[in-house]
Amino acid sequence: MYLTAHKVCSAAKNLHRAEAHAAAAILNLNQRLAAAQTRNLNQPHAAQLAEQEENKPCMAGYLVSDERKVTSHRFFETKERGKKISMLTAYDYTTASLLDKAGVDSILIGDSASNVMVGNKTTLPMTVEQMIYQIGRAVVNAVKRALVVCDMPFGSYQTGVEHGVENAIRIMKESGCDALKIEGGVEILETVKRILDSGIPVIAHLGLTPQSINKFGTYAVRAKDKAEADKLMSDAIAMSEIGCCGITLEKIPAALAREVTKAVKCPTIGIGAGNGCDGQVLVYADMLGLTQDFSPRFIRRYADLKNIIIDAVGQYVGDVKTGNFPNEQESY
Ligand code: KIV
Repeated sequence: MYLTAHKVCSAAKNLHRAEAHAAAAILNLNQRLAAAQTRNLNQPHAAQLAEQEENKPCMAGYLVSDERKVTSHRFFETKERGKKISMLTAYDYTTASLLDKAGVDSILIGDSASNVMVGNKTTLPMTVEQMIYQIGRAVVNAVKRALVVCDMPFGSYQTGVEHGVENAIRIMKESGCDALKIEGGVEILETVKRILDSGIPVIAHLGLTPQSINKFGTYAVRAKDKAEADKLMSDAIAMSEIGCCGITLEKIPAALAREVTKAVKCPTIGIGAGNGCDGQVLVYADMLGLTQDFSPRFIRRYADLKNIIIDAVGQYVGDVKTGNFPNEQESY
């Protein structure tokens, strides 16, 4: 192929721009590395941090001193002792092992994987097989300490008690998780009771239940009116009384969540339900800033991984294009 003088000139300009961009990116990376090294030097050793009292915040954030495996039984103890429970979702081995190392009390194999990992608009398409083999086993293989909870996906329990119990046993047996989470109130009480009777710890999920999004028609705050708030309260009490080890409260008024928390024996885990719950759960990709198109007010972003990844990949692409990667030390 022949290039005109004009094309050669503009290709040279583009190359020059790419080099300038790569140089700026390298400078930026070096500055970040220097800042990170300074942060590391200033941080106390992890062993020292672990010795610090439980619940005492430190520079690196919260580190647990109690390394025992979290059980559903300890969920109750945590509430009784007036301590809070931290929960995050995870859908893969690498992320789950990082979250577990960082000291999160519980990891949810959430059907939100449908949105976050697969790019679906709702959680409805997730299947029992996907929950077990695409994400469940990966998370279970990674986690040493946190209580691993797996969502029962849409269609796995709504069709009847026996079907629900069979799927619950299958998910426990084949994924190796520690507990299940199920969306719904008294309408699924018998199913939840039978699952509990099979020896499976269950976390109920009330308020905004994403598997029912087609019934609600919107992701707006639930239980703002008295009738829905009353139903939610009686659903929560019923789930607690039959022995659920937790209740997720999603996107409901903070005052209602506080009242429910006082009324039930098991811990409540809020997402968009204010500070009165016994614990909090977030989707890890939201709180780490991987998914920035989704910004409801209940998300607090603790990192900007989206831009860190875009920067890093941009630098890699630049290095490959300019022949700067791999260098001699990176070659055999
Ligand atoms: O699947 C999920 O991520 C959840 C949380 C919203 C609690 O159920």
